Formats: sequence, structure tokens, C-alpha cells
Amino acid sequence: MKLVHSVLQGLLLGLLAEATISLDRFRVLGPQGVNLWKLEKAYAAARSTLNPKFVVQDGSSSESVLSEDVAGFKAQWFRQPVDHFDKNSDATFRQRYWINMRHYNPDNGGPVIVLDGGETSGANRLSFLDTGIVDILARHTGGVGVVLEHRYYGQSIPVVNFTTDNLRWLNNDQSAADSANFMANVKFKGIEEDLTAPNTPWIYYGGSYAGARAAHMRVLYPDLVYGAIASSAVTHAAIINWEYMEIIRNAADPVCSRHLENSIKTIDSILSSGRLKQPLKALFGLSDLRHDDDFASVIESPLGSWQSKCWHPDFASTTFDDFCAALDKPPFGSGLTSLSELPYGAPERMLTLPGGLAVDFTIVNYANYIKKNVVSLCPEGVSTDLCFGSWDEEQYQVYDIGQEWRLWLFQVCTEWGYFMTSPPDPDHPRIISKLLTLGYESKICHMAFPPGKHFTVPTMPNVTVVNQLGDFDIAADRLALIDGEVDPWRPATPHSDYAYDREDTVLRPFKVIPGGVHHFDEWGLPNLADEPLEIQAIHGEMIYFVKEWLKDWKPPQTA
Ligand SMILES: *[C@@H]1O[C@H](CO)[C@@H](O)[C@H](O)[C@H]1NC(C)=O
Ligand SMILES: *[C@@H]1O[C@H](CO)[C@@H](O)[C@H](O)[C@H]1NC(C)=O
Repeated sequence: MKLVHSVLQGLLLGLLAEATISLDRFRVLGPQGVNLWKLEKAYAAARSTLNPKFVVQDGSSSESVLSEDVAGFKAQWFRQPVDHFDKNSDATFRQRYWINMRHYNPDNGGPVIVLDGGETSGANRLSFLDTGIVDILARHTGGVGVVLEHRYYGQSIPVVNFTTDNLRWLNNDQSAADSANFMANVKFKGIEEDLTAPNTPWIYYGGSYAGARAAHMRVLYPDLVYGAIASSAVTHAAIINWEYMEIIRNAADPVCSRHLENSIKTIDSILSSGRLKQPLKALFGLSDLRHDDDFASVIESPLGSWQSKCWHPDFASTTFDDFCAALDKPPFGSGLTSLSELPYGAPERMLTLPGGLAVDFTIVNYANYIKKNVVSLCPEGVSTDLCFGSWDEEQYQVYDIGQEWRLWLFQVCTEWGYFMTSPPDPDHPRIISKLLTLGYESKICHMAFPPGKHFTVPTMPNVTVVNQLGDFDIAADRLALIDGEVDPWRPATPHSDYAYDREDTVLRPFKVIPGGVHHFDEWGLPNLADEPLEIQAIHGEMIYFVKEWLKDWKPPQTA
């Protein structure tokens, strides 16, 4: 079992809520190990939500169930150097991948559609190989589909433990070099033809962090990567990512956002005055949680479930909507159907608690929700400070390879950032506490990764490493950029409001999925006609532009 850690960060923040709150559905097994390709929901949990001290390795990991045998996909292995750039080192490791040959037409000689597994076990991505975007594109092009696991994740682990020193080969340059080496040299079992790049056209797909990688691959290795599709691609790395919650605040049901804004305003003022702070924490079942910022962090956790919204019935999450419905529930016997029928602060909505604390009923609802869905994860007899506190350095000093939460966190701390803070302007409306500052959110970097002999985590992540590759403006022929209108990660993509607008062309597709959240195009149904209309539409466009790209392909010797 896993406990919620108060520090939320990482691409999959959303997962926190999903992976921890819905423990039963998404059995949290490891940072990534949630019900696998039941997907990204896992990560967040993984990354930030656990208190490593309590991580119990559970042999029934969903990975062992799925990795070898999803729809007949068998794991294959490719040998990679641990360090692509140190010619004095000959250490290697095995990188795992899976291939889908169902649609392969040898007369075509490709293409190869490769999906970058990103920051989780590749086994979590097998649904995309089976019925998702990889299968869809392979089917329409007579190509081969591949899921390539990212180094350090799943079973592609080049080291014996995850100390700071041993994580030093977990970075963008090494991961991109893995993919390039794979494309140029892989020999697929069961396929006679040489399908390596550049002799065969490769289309590189990624979503989220891996989406940024897809865009970067097209720019860094243009001769190997014939085309790339970057979905919800976070090509803009940023130390502070307050915009994440701003998307949610604006996109959520306005009644829910208002409840959250009002609750947070009250909670912040109670916490900062100090008076009645104790009865407030007690209301949430967190009376022994010592630090106010940890309290703020625990009550933030349901918001991550916005990201878990998904159109695909097998992966859909109702957590966010359930949370909103819970906040709005009127007091029993009040005759109201929605709390919002009375103005915030109306006497009929107020409840006076022991100690004289009078709070709006939404806060009571909020407290009940947190008690029932989050605090309940803390085992009986263990203090909530031990479960949800983040200030004890010792809890992070665990380095075995079961500590998958260390992986994306290391990438955050070195190159990506994205610390989820409240808005920098204290007067800006907000749905999370102002105690969630950069200092609070980033302190884990130095607590979890003490300096090693060979590597030291920088004071703040060096986001230039990412942004110098193009940032919001990244562009290339045959690089498609696809985003979701209400994806909380959109502010870090080329569809950010900070980015310039561009034309959508076949050569440079630039598309938004209306009402879409996080990489909605990545899931698919066996029959496209069963998909929601906006998903059918994006899949149709993707099939079209990939086929158009392939019409222009010429092998290098005749180019
Ligand atoms: C981690 O592994 C290295 C070898 O790569 C070893 O020297 C070191 O003692 C290990 N550290 C811990 C804390 O396990
Ligand atoms: C950050 O990364 C960039 C790009 O690799 C590099 O030029 C720069 O020196 C780095 N900055 C620091 C402070 O290390």
C-alpha cells in the first residue's frame, strides 16, 4: 500500500488523486506501478505522492501481469550503452520494447510507428500498441508498431540502485540517444527486411513528457526521424508551473471553482491568523499534521484528478466530478439541491464547530471528502504527520530500485521543473493555498538527492536544457503538434497562451482537440466509428497527414 505524500509535482500530478484516492481501482503498486496501462494515472501517484518509508513492495505488480502478455505482445530487448557520450565506458543495459506486426506489409517496407514510453513502465503503454494510436497508424499504413520503454523505467534499468550518482545517466540527452541508436540498429524478430532508419521511414510518437521528446527527436535527429507526432508535448520547461491549476480553475464547473476559491480563501486566512487552526485541521482529520503547508498540500490532492479525465471508457475517471459534487452537497434537511442556491457565507450555510469556528458548509464537505478519501489511506495508529508530512529528510533516504518515485522526480529536479505553486500574484483567484510556494514544492529535490561523488543536483533545475531545443516555438516539417483545449499541461506546450499562433498545415499540423484533456488522441477504440466525434476527427486527421508525409518519402540513396 502507498501513502499520499504531500509534495505534488511532475507531469502526472493528476495521478495522485487517481492512484491514491481510488486505490481499489488503480491499485497503487509503485510510483508507476498502478494498474499499468490504466496509465498515467499511475505516475503522479508514483512520483510525488508516496512517503517512501511506507512503500511496501507488492509482488503482484500489475507489470508482471501485463508486460509479457497483453494481446500477445512479448517483451523484446535491445542493448544500449549506459553512457552514449563517454567513449571510455563500455557499460551497457537492456532496453525493453514490444512490437505489433499485425498490420505489417513487407511490400511497403515500413513505416515504423514508435511510441516513446516516457516516464513510466513501457508496460503501461501497451494499450496504445493494441488499440490506441500506434495500432491505428500501423493499420492505416501497413506499418510496424513499437512501444519503446524509457531508460530507468519499468525493466530498462541500467543501475543497481537509484542514488544521486546512479541517476546521472537519466537525462534528456541520454534518452534521446537511446531512441536514435534503437532506430538505427534494431533488428525485429520475425521480420526479414531491414527496417532501420534512415532506410525506412520512422514516425515517432509521444504524449506529455514523451511528447516533448518526440518533438525534440525530430529536431535533434532529423535524418533518423522522418516524422514526429508530439501530443500534449511539454516543450516549454518551467521552474514554476502555477498555470496548471489555473487551467483547472477556469475549465471546471464554475460552481465548483467558486466553492474551491471561497474555501481556500477561508482556509488560508485561518492558517495565517493561527487562531482556530487546530479545529480546522481536526475537521479534516489532520489534527496531528504539524506543518501548515503539508496540510495545504494534502487538501490539494483531489485537483490532480482533473488530468485523469479520459474519454476512453476503460480509462475514464470520475474522481474530479465526484469531488465537485461532494463539495456542493447541501446540509441534510436544508431543502436545497445545491449549496450555491445561497450566497457564500449566508447564515444558513454556516456551521459552528467546537472551539467557535464557524465555516461555510463547503468546507465541511471538503473536509469530509479528504477524511474519507485521503486521510483514510494512513494506516490506523500511524500519525498523519508520518503519512503526509514532508519535512522529515530521513524518509527520502531510500535508494533501492523499487523507489520508482525517485525517477521522474530526478528529472524534475535536474532539467524539467514544473513545481506546482499557487499564483505568484497573491490577489489572483486561486484554488490551492498560497502556502504552496516554490520553496515548499522544490525542497524535496535536495532532501531526496544529496550530492554524490559524480553528480550534484542543481539548486534549481536547468530548464535551458529543454528550452534551447525550441521551447514554445519548436517547429519542423513533418512535426505535428496536438493538444487538448483544457489540458492542464497546455500552458507548457506550443498551444500555450504564451506561444504564438500558427497555421495548421499538412506538413506542420497544429491541432487542438476541443474539450480535450491530456493527450486524448493517444487512446483509441478498435472501431474508430465508436469513438467520440472529436476523437474520430483527430484520428482521421492524423491518419491523413501521416499518409501524406509517407507519399513524399524517398530512401536516402535516391533522395
Ligand atoms: C549504490 O550502488 C553503487 C554501485 O553502483 C554502490 O557503490 C553504492 O554503495 C550503492 N549505494 C546504496 C546506498 O545502495
Ligand atoms: C544549463 O544548460 C545549458 C544548456 O545545456 C548550459 O549551456 C548551461 O551552462 C547550463 N547552466 C548551468 C547553470 O549549468
